Amino acid sequence: MPLRTVDWVDGKLVLVDQTLLPHELVMLEPATVRDLVDAIRRLSVRGAPALGVAGAYGVALAARLHPPVSDPAGFDTAVKALRTARPTAVNLARMVDRVAAVASDDPSRALAEAHLVRDEELSASKAMGELGADLVQALCGDGPVRAMTICNTGGLASVERGTALGVIQTLHERGSLIEAIPLETRPLLQGSRLTTWELERMGAPHRLIVDSAASYLLAQGVADVVLIGADRVAANGDTANKIGSFGLALGAADAGVPFIVVAPESTVDPATPSGADIEIEDRGAAEVCAVGDRAIAPAGTAAINPAFDVTPVRLITALVTNRRVVRFDLGEALAPPGSENPLG
Ligand code: MRU
Repeated sequence: MPLRTVDWVDGKLVLVDQTLLPHELVMLEPATVRDLVDAIRRLSVRGAPALGVAGAYGVALAARLHPPVSDPAGFDTAVKALRTARPTAVNLARMVDRVAAVASDDPSRALAEAHLVRDEELSASKAMGELGADLVQALCGDGPVRAMTICNTGGLASVERGTALGVIQTLHERGSLIEAIPLETRPLLQGSRLTTWELERMGAPHRLIVDSAASYLLAQGVADVVLIGADRVAANGDTANKIGSFGLALGAADAGVPFIVVAPESTVDPATPSGADIEIEDRGAAEVCAVGDRAIAPAGTAAINPAFDVTPVRLITALVTNRRVVRFDLGEALAPPGSENPLG
């Protein structure tokens, strides 16, 4: 069976500890909500869909440890800690709320809902891979493509396969990938640590680049398409994703390269009108001033460290979800809030 980033095995929550990759593949088993919140904050589990699934199982854990009817205060505190552990990826709060809404003193209720969340993300990843690969081939011609991507959007960011990297995997399986070009993704290096590890495991050709090479290389014509994931897609299509995505979109627009966002419906947030309404996580100076344990700036250097940015919809060619392709470049729009419920 393929590696699952987050799962429930033999009555326990099991997570890949992504802070240790690519050196060691170690599984974590958070036994308390506090352990899970710490794992989320230090990015042992990360990526919007994986955060949603982890949060869902976190509520199942909370329902077992603090039954909501007999210990409502304990349950509410646990739910609040989970839903606020990281602010930008809408999946976390949304899936925590979804499972909390059905939790009762019978812990199997919350667990069954968390399993549904996991299974929905599994099938969403497969659907996005197919829809996204079809779109790339429609935009770039039927020949094999070179795909640039940022951060990590593979199985590690979901349960299996993932979003943008899942599309790259599907292209590779179709024999339609020349190479993937991942950005290293400073400061936490999700691209160089995690995406290259996943590309290696799937046997897909790839060459890593530093973040600051992306626009130049796009202008040189090294990529046919840029594929990114999302932490939250606002109702107007503005998209929050890993810091560097906005600059990548500007570079792609200048070079005339299609820029495609791949995200499940669970990441599309009709309640957030535009990118200006998305809370961007500030992760503090330490991550900028050091690589791992090694300082790369004089002690005490001040730094600015937004973990995400917002790419305006005008720079996005298309959004691929598990259920639809929205061609912003052709004037299509997401359904406005209050009309058809895109989460179905
Ligand atoms: O800070 P991270 O590593 O959680 O950021 C992850 C990203 O920005 C991903 O691109 C996004 O969550 C989509 S994952 C399929």
